[in-house]
This record gives sequence, C-alpha cells and structure tokens, in this order.
Amino acid sequence: DDMYAKEMYVQAKHFYQDVAFPSICPHTSLEAMKTFEVREDDVFIVTFPKSGATWTTEILSLILNGGDFQAVSRVRIEDRAPYPEFHLKPKPNYEQAAEMASPRIIPTHLPMHILPPQLDEKKPKVIYVARNPKDIVASIYYHHSKDIFLETYESWEHCLEEFIGNDKLANHVIPWWNKRRESNVLFLKYEDMNKNLKSQIRKISSFLGRPLSDELLDKISEHCSFKKMKENPITVRENVCKLWGIDPSESPFVRNGIVI
Ligand code: A3P
Repeated sequence: DDMYAKEMYVQAKHFYQDVAFPSICPHTSLEAMKTFEVREDDVFIVTFPKSGATWTTEILSLILNGGDFQAVSRVRIEDRAPYPEFHLKPKPNYEQAAEMASPRIIPTHLPMHILPPQLDEKKPKVIYVARNPKDIVASIYYHHSKDIFLETYESWEHCLEEFIGNDKLANHVIPWWNKRRESNVLFLKYEDMNKNLKSQIRKISSFLGRPLSDELLDKISEHCSFKKMKENPITVRENVCKLWGIDPSESPFVRNGIVI
C-alpha cells in the first residue's frame, strides 16, 4: 500500500468544470466528490496549493489527538490526512477517507464549487488558509520542478505568466473570504502563522473547542516550528521525496517557509 502509482506519471492536465487539474486528480475522483459523505465532526483544511496545508495539518493532528506526539510520528501525514481528490495509490483517496475513524482531518485544494455538496448540509468545521500570492507562486514553481506528477515550467517567467494570467487563486480565496464570519469557518493567513504561531494555534484550538494548556501549546508550537518540521521525516514526506528522487532536505512541503 506504500507504493505510489508511479506508472500514473503523466503531466498532462485535464479540465473538470472549467478548472484545470493534474492527472493525480482524475475525473472519477472529482465526480466522486458529488457523493462524498461528509461527517459533522470532520475538519476540512481548504487551501490553494502551497499555502501552508502541511503545516496546518500537523497542528490539527496534535490538537485533535490531545498532544499525542508518538501518534504523529508513527503515521505519515499523507495517511493521517488524505486529499480526497487525489488518486495516487491503487485505492482512491476518497475511499481511504471513507474508512477513517472520526474526527477526520480532510485537506483539499478543490475550489468551493467542486467541494462535496454535503458540506452545506453537515456544516463541518472548515479552516481556510490563505497566503500571499507572491510566495505561493514561488513555492509552486519550485514544487512543480520537483514533483513528477506535475508539469515542469519551462521557465520562471512562464510560471509567473500563467499564474497571473488566470483567476484561479482569486476564485479560490474570495468565496471563503466572504464566508469568513460563518460560525463553522476559520479563515487563517500563512503570514499570521509565520509571525505568531502560538496565537494562531490558540485560535485553532478554541475554534475546535479543544482548549490547550500552556504547556501543550508550547510543545505543539515547538514541534510545528519550521526548523522542527524541516527535520521531521514525516512532515517533509520523506517517502514522497524518495519517490520523486529528491533530497528530503529540499522537500517542497517544508522548504523555505519565508514571507517576502
Ligand atoms: P515555501 O515553498 O515557500 O517554503 P503546502 O503544505 O500547502 O504545500 O505548503 C507548503 C509551504 O508551506 C512551503 O512554502 C513550506 O515551506 C511551508 N511550510 C511548511 N511547514 C512550515 C512551517 N512549519 N513553518 C513555515 N512554513 C512552513
């Protein structure tokens, strides 16, 4: 089950409801979102790619499991929180998610109109993480140069032109910005996490109704610091790096972590 479907290595994009998707989000998985069963106690982490999903997932895992650091070192981050739209293993991720125990952490990059419609009915908690477009595009460029499932840009200029030339990011963020005051939505910014991680962890814990002691807050913030996450084989997704043939210290998931 550890084997990623390397034979799926195709960089071609396809379109679903006018949105471009990489081959790792096949039509079947996107269609399956229409009937994806949402649970009331799920916590969705909705992000545009490269906005801090890995970071937020690690924080959430520790808040929801009551600070069980052993547990997060045993289970890989991609197994703890599978993106339902991805299909990288023999079993599609949406099936894996259906078998997970509650409360589930469900990260997704899907734009609002392609998310499971049951979100409106079940109203689970949703954490949206937004990031400065300049840093997102730099991070995307690097990630695409490493990820065998994504197209490699011919040059930085091409990447920038494509990013600026469409409304993908705006279409992703604006609907969630408009919902930011709804009681089941927490709208966070990568830059605030970077400036004051503890205050953002506290915000997440009170949003989830899981208050943290000062001691646990200190420990989680230490564990989720850039330096610690960069040294952590689980958060750098060491096995994914191996598959892509890159040095884990260059992981696109915990790379520079800076705000320009
Ligand atoms: P950079 O490529 O700019 O360094 P995602 O998880 O959504 O793919 O986002 C990846 C980005 O989040 C990368 O940005 C990565 O370095 C950054 N990141 C991950 N963990 C972090 C942490 N603990 N502190 C700061 N940034 C972090």
